[in-house]
Amino acid sequence: GTRIFSGVKPTGHLTLGNHLGAMRRWAEVDQHRAESLFCVVDLHALTVEHDPARVRRLSRQTAGLLLASGLDPEVCTVFAQSHVDEHARLMYLLECVATDGEMRRMIQYKEKSARARTSGQGVRLSLLTYPVLMAADILAYGATEVPVGEDQTQHVELTRDLAVRFNQRYGHTFVVPRATVPAVAARVMDLQDPSAKMGKSHAATSGIVYLLDEPDAVARKVRRAVTDGEPGVSYDREARPGVANLLEILSACTGEEPGALAERYDGIGVLKADTADAVVELLRPLRARHAEISADPAYVDGVLREGAARARALARPTVDAAYEAMGLLRPA
Ligand code: TYM
Repeated sequence: GTRIFSGVKPTGHLTLGNHLGAMRRWAEVDQHRAESLFCVVDLHALTVEHDPARVRRLSRQTAGLLLASGLDPEVCTVFAQSHVDEHARLMYLLECVATDGEMRRMIQYKEKSARARTSGQGVRLSLLTYPVLMAADILAYGATEVPVGEDQTQHVELTRDLAVRFNQRYGHTFVVPRATVPAVAARVMDLQDPSAKMGKSHAATSGIVYLLDEPDAVARKVRRAVTDGEPGVSYDREARPGVANLLEILSACTGEEPGALAERYDGIGVLKADTADAVVELLRPLRARHAEISADPAYVDGVLREGAARARALARPTVDAAYEAMGLLRPA
């Protein structure tokens, strides 16, 4: 059967990109389709310079936002990665299957290690091995599908490679998963720089819509989006990335195709105004639910505790089987 796993890193305030590329589908579709697990991947937040107090705060906030976005702990499993030891246990085994060259080819590693180097910080070894931990996250649960935004598909491909290689060498142990990306808004771009992904850990914030931004801030950021000097509205991701980004965001909010939307608009001003309104309305219920949920931190902690118990029970047999398959003696 289908099993779904995905995760979000508590490295910053969650953005419209996280929501449209991933979280919204988890809540609206994925959790209702199959057994599914959604994880606050806190161990992944330690791969770049971090402040422990901030990671702790963001982990709770991220869990709260997953619930606010509509994940229902009665329907799916919501938990924190560090609460389930199986992730780290399996990571080590997969490090014995993965190669150094494979890790260095990862686009995200190249970008993030370059950034750490230029800012004079060392590159943490865990940044290099990050995709192995991500593979462990997925393979520990026998996930068949991994709903992510476009930027994570390379990591899911690597996960597939590791699963296949492990199975060939040591016998069938892992399900080989596949990434699923949304039809539109799989890569929401920064509103001030449509050549860059809208990312939660970016320093400049005027091009980023955060899920918890005030409605007037959301509207302002969308209305001030950088587009181009061309007249009219047309949908062309290569030639007109700024306009295409707005069309995709509006499309994700309304369900109408970006190309069809482009035909209905004559001017960028109206497109921006309508997109701003649509995003404000999309986020309104999420903000309201988050306000309720964050007033009750014990509720979030309880969800995470129960989620970890369920997750552990699912992961342990698979990870134990991997230990055995690789030739490790099991404790008598
Ligand atoms: P993270 O925390 O960067 O992002 C969480 C999810 O949001 C998607 N996303 C976007 N989608 C569209 N447009 C954007 N601008 C945008 N920005 C982010 C991401 O693709 C992702 O689906 N390595 C992962 C976390 C992770 C994970 C996993 C995911 C760790 N283990 C196992 C799936 C399965 C990450 O950094 O996502």
